[in-house]
Amino acid sequence: MREVHVVRHPLVQHKLTLMRQAERTTKGFRQLLNEVGMLLCYEVTRDLPLADVEIETPITTMQSPMVAGKKLVFAPILRAGLGFVDGMLDLVPSARVAHIGLYRDPKTLQAVEYYFKAPPDVAERLVIVLDPMLATANSAVAAVDRLKERGCKELRLVCLLAAPEGIERFHGAHPEVPIWTAAVDSHLNEHGYIVPGLGDAGDRMFGTR
Ligand code: URA
Repeated sequence: MREVHVVRHPLVQHKLTLMRQAERTTKGFRQLLNEVGMLLCYEVTRDLPLADVEIETPITTMQSPMVAGKKLVFAPILRAGLGFVDGMLDLVPSARVAHIGLYRDPKTLQAVEYYFKAPPDVAERLVIVLDPMLATANSAVAAVDRLKERGCKELRLVCLLAAPEGIERFHGAHPEVPIWTAAVDSHLNEHGYIVPGLGDAGDRMFGTR
C-alpha cells in the first residue's frame, strides 16, 4: 500500500536534468520524454510474472521463460501522457492503449473529462496509467476512478515528476495503486505547477507556449 518507487537509474536522472533545462528545444524535450518513457517502462514491468515455455533452439529443445499473467494496457492522460507511449510500445509492442482526455481547469485546477476510449477487455488487463506531472493529482485520481468504474483491478501509475502534495492526494484516493516516478520535487506553487519542476510538460512537448 502507498508504494512510491523513485527510479534513480543514472540515465533517467541525466535525461530528466536535460528536460528541466528551460533552453531545451521542443524536439529535444519530446525525444527525451520518449526515451525516459522507455526506461520507466523497464522499471514498472520489472516484476511481471514469467512462465517457462518449451521452445526449440537450433541445437535442442529447452524450457525458457516468457512474460505471463495479465496483458498490458498503457493509459496516457492526454496530452502530456502521450509523450511516454511510443517509448513504452517499443518495449511492449503488443500492449493496448487507452486514451483518457482530461484537462485541468486553470481556475479550479479540477480535472475535466472530454474523452475516454479503452480496449473492451481493459478490466482483464494490468493498466499502466501515464501522467508525466503528478501535481495536484486531480487528473490521475479522476483517470483511475474512471478505469475502476470500467472494472479495472490492477493499476499502476507512471510519472516523470511528482509533488509531495500530488502523491498524498493520489494515495489518499487510491492507496493500493503504486507509483513510479523519476523524482519527487519540493512543492506546488500557487498556480499548481511543480517546483522546481520543468514547466508545462504538454506545452514543452508540443511547442504550444
Ligand atoms: N502539469 C505540468 O505540465 N507541469 C506542472 O508543473 C504541473 C502540472
